[in-house]
Amino acid sequence: MSAVLRLAGMTSGYGAVAAVRDLDLEVGEGEVVGLLGPNGAGKTTTLLTISGLLQPSRGSIELLGQDLAGRRPHRVARMGVGHVPEDKSLFYQLTVRDNLALGTRTLRRDLDQVTSWFPELARLLNRKAGLLSGGEQQMLALARTLIRRPRILLIDEMSMGLAPIIVERLFGMIGDIQRETGLSVLLVEQHVAMALGACERVYVLNHGQCMFEGAVQVLRKDPALLEAAYLGTSAVGQTA
Ligand SMILES: Nc1ncnc2c1ncn2[C@@H]1O[C@H](COP(=O)(O)OP(=O)(O)OP(=O)(O)O)[C@@H](O)[C@H]1O
Ligand SMILES: [Mg+2]
Repeated sequence: MSAVLRLAGMTSGYGAVAAVRDLDLEVGEGEVVGLLGPNGAGKTTTLLTISGLLQPSRGSIELLGQDLAGRRPHRVARMGVGHVPEDKSLFYQLTVRDNLALGTRTLRRDLDQVTSWFPELARLLNRKAGLLSGGEQQMLALARTLIRRPRILLIDEMSMGLAPIIVERLFGMIGDIQRETGLSVLLVEQHVAMALGACERVYVLNHGQCMFEGAVQVLRKDPALLEAAYLGTSAVGQTA
């Protein structure tokens, strides 16, 4: 499988403090990969660095073989990285339609596509984003990013603050979109069971270091591996 996204030896953080160290990570064409780990492990930092909002102090980040390091966030987005941040970054005073319009010049055409993926949004187009439910806001955040047709979708903590049944639905929608479009997905998630259900392969970070990398199947057979990675007592290098 060819890599859409490839991080090699990536180190990144805030000032002199490295929050992620020496990370090797790959997401293949059409692959759904989870990035897991306890609070403060470096998951958000990793996504921010891929998107160009933070610059790595070492290592490389490639999208389809093109170097992303040093590029500005808008450029990285245009190259095909779609990022749904933890705070969703919606314009809450604007309508759903206007939030979507910010991502495309061909809204009329793209609306059909978006509402086929997220049917709920069809009847909410004139509602202000701030008046939507948490699940609807998450759909809008996903839709606004997907409308730009990214090659890879980075999602930070989609389950945050949402009822499990809503999260399950959102994961189902992402799975459908992924199968339809061949999109690659890198999913940061605290809800481990949900992530294991949605991903083929996961990385587990702890204190900025990768403690496990491998197929979800491996973790299903040996759940102690996941626990050890979360506790920071296992070593990297587990594979399918
Ligand atoms: N703006 C910042 N300035 C300085 N340090 C930061 C900043 N943001 C995060 N950190 C630190 O970097 C480390 C990694 O944080 P990060 O937000 O990437 O973790 P995370 O895995 O996303 O955690 P969570 O599950 O809580 O979202 C933590 O030690 C955190 O305190
Ligand atoms: Mg985070």
